[in-house]
Amino acid sequence: MGIEPECIEDQKEFSVDTLIDGQMYSISDAALFEGDSRACLFYRVWIKQAFVVKACTSEGLSDLSSLLHNKPVDYIPIRRPREEEMLVKVERGFFSKMFHRNRPIVELDPTQEFAGVKASYGHENAHMLAVHKHQYSTLRKHIPQFIPETRFVMLKRASDSAGIRSFPGMVQKRIFGASLGGEVIDMFSGNAYKEWVPHIPRIAAQLRSIQKSPAKQHIDWNIQNFIVNRDSHHLHYVDCKPSFMIPRYCNSRSYDSVRECIIGRYLGR
Ligand SMILES: Nc1ncnc2c1ncn2[C@@H]1O[C@H](COP(=O)(O)OP(=O)(O)OP(=O)(O)O)[C@@H](O)[C@H]1O
Ligand SMILES: [Mg+2]
Repeated sequence: MGIEPECIEDQKEFSVDTLIDGQMYSISDAALFEGDSRACLFYRVWIKQAFVVKACTSEGLSDLSSLLHNKPVDYIPIRRPREEEMLVKVERGFFSKMFHRNRPIVELDPTQEFAGVKASYGHENAHMLAVHKHQYSTLRKHIPQFIPETRFVMLKRASDSAGIRSFPGMVQKRIFGASLGGEVIDMFSGNAYKEWVPHIPRIAAQLRSIQKSPAKQHIDWNIQNFIVNRDSHHLHYVDCKPSFMIPRYCNSRSYDSVRECIIGRYLGR
């Protein structure tokens, strides 16, 4: 009772893997609100020195919940949510209980791991964290080398002593490097910037290994989701959104342009 949550400090030596999924952390207002922050479509993203915080925007949360309740959104997602992601349906649905009689229901409960979050902050928050962790686990299983360490936690501002405005979020290792979309590849011409040309075959080979893995259909192929380390030229995929939230039309266009501009051009088809 009344235990102050540990405070995440934005220090160089901070390591994301010291955080524990499902725990509450506080974060100083300065760490949260000073410096680079972006309002993206689904997430508000704060880029700090040692880590990146991502919290669902209200649009992101409402799309997530619509998709999980099988309600229409104004785009066609690349896939339907998997059964184990649709907790609400599984928990409340009479038929799902009948059909899964021989399987313990709890096995399908993605928030099991986030039971503490569910008890203290509600089902929706636990579900949001669980669904995002599910996506992360899928990617880490197939292409671990490209996926930065990420933790799924509750966050509150240090100044909010009552924790009234706590929110679920992802804390991801900050990747220092150049964005594939805009810093490595000119988004208008589709050509690599001069200094990057010698390194494109290595980048293309890494993209091809993602393309050949089962992770391919879980990736948002927008090239801005890839960051390349400037020294090692190692590629990272930073987007966290569950793949059923990715619009099909945009993704096939993004995928085609990655293939045209990078993989096809430098490695052949
Ligand atoms: N771990 C990270 N390290 C460095 N930069 C990052 C990291 N995560 C995200 N970014 C930067 O922030 C941008 C937005 O992050 P992200 O793709 O996770 O949000 P998003 O809401 O999915 O954006 P969008 O909907 O536009 O794809 C990325 O394109 C990247 O430039
Ligand atoms: Mg993105």
